Amino acid sequence: MQQSITILSLLQLLLLLFSSLPAQSHAWGIHGHLIARLSDSAATAVRALLPSYAGGNLSSLCSWADDVKFRYPWSAPLHYIDTPDRLCNYNYDRDCKDEDGVKGRCVAGAITNYTSQLLTYDATSPSTTKYNLTQALLFLAHFMGDIHQPLHVGFTSDKGGNTIDVHWYSKKTVLHHVWDNSIIETAEDDYYGEGVAEFVDALTQNITGEWSQRVTGWEECSKNQTACPDTYASESITAACDWAYKNVTEDSVLEDSYFASRLPVVNLRLAQGGVRLAATLNRIFS
Ligand SMILES: *[C@@H]1O[C@H](CO)[C@@H](O)[C@H](O)[C@H]1NC(C)=O
Ligand SMILES: *[C@@H]1O[C@H](CO)[C@@H](O)[C@H](O)[C@H]1NC(C)=O
Ligand SMILES: *[C@@H]1O[C@H](CO)[C@@H](O)[C@H](O)[C@H]1NC(C)=O
Ligand SMILES: *[C@@H]1O[C@H](CO)[C@@H](O)[C@H](O)[C@H]1NC(C)=O
Ligand SMILES: *[C@@H]1O[C@H](CO)[C@@H](O)[C@H](O)[C@H]1NC(C)=O
Ligand SMILES: *[C@@H]1O[C@H](CO)[C@@H](O)[C@H](O)[C@H]1NC(C)=O
Repeated sequence: MQQSITILSLLQLLLLLFSSLPAQSHAWGIHGHLIARLSDSAATAVRALLPSYAGGNLSSLCSWADDVKFRYPWSAPLHYIDTPDRLCNYNYDRDCKDEDGVKGRCVAGAITNYTSQLLTYDATSPSTTKYNLTQALLFLAHFMGDIHQPLHVGFTSDKGGNTIDVHWYSKKTVLHHVWDNSIIETAEDDYYGEGVAEFVDALTQNITGEWSQRVTGWEECSKNQTACPDTYASESITAACDWAYKNVTEDSVLEDSYFASRLPVVNLRLAQGGVRLAATLNRIFS
């Protein structure tokens, strides 16, 4: 992060920082480096929509993502989906609602919402839309990261692992936090001495190398849709059951074997989230 910041890499870093919750966190999403995957028209639109203050100060955008829930309390239910306990599947009609039962108020509904808002973008007269498309873009990037975090599509009674106390090595935390932060932090500490940038580089390399055959499949969106959040949500609850919740009980101590077996899942979901954000933006602004 120390190197001189050109416009492009600034955008990269900004997008990288959009996702996920706590300030110092390592962001559920590697959106930044994926700016390279944007078409010219999408890159131009993204550049136009990013807030002007972002140009001057990265921290202000970090805090946008972090403050969102405090500044906009109505957005809190838009970060996740609660699915029925132990069923291990997701159904939009059944599950996408808030605690009051209001339909569409979940992370999948929010992705559809902000995608359709962004579809009103008109490059030739950017001010004609009734929506704040800067916010729509920031929300879309953020929620695309969230929906790929397996425990953002978790069980209802444990709030996606938020009420499951565990130890991450010797540190007391909750399972949800392990998946939001701890696995990524430990990976950085153990493997990526230079910090988040080096980690993101490693992921980007796999996207263009190792995984390139599969990437086309990740980008696809069925039935001529612009965004496919239901697919991502289904994948997340499957991964939550197969990996996140698996073999974890209240007060479990999670350490090397859990870390080693789950890190590849985290890496994959981060990569998919980034690739799909870029693909979605390309469809929106095509
Ligand atoms: C950027 O914003 C942060 C937090 O809002 C502030 O602490 C910092 O001084 C700002 N830096 C610059 C260079 O303006
Ligand atoms: C859709 O976006 C608007 C504007 O930000 C917001 O008020 C509304 O709650 C959103 N609804 C969903 C389901 O995301
Ligand atoms: C749109 O939202 C951004 C980000 O929250 C904010 O900085 C900007 O002032 C808003 N624009 C308008 C016209 O309200
Ligand atoms: C990249 O792929 C290699 C080979 O499959 C794997 O060992 C490595 O952990 C991957 N790195 C990341 C960051 O996903
Ligand atoms: C997708 O769009 C194309 C072109 O508009 C159309 O020919 C095709 O029938 C559509 N397919 C579906 C499944 O809606
Ligand atoms: C769960 O625990 C069993 C028994 O120790 C082990 O065989 C299995 O590999 C573990 N599964 C995962 C995903 O950790």
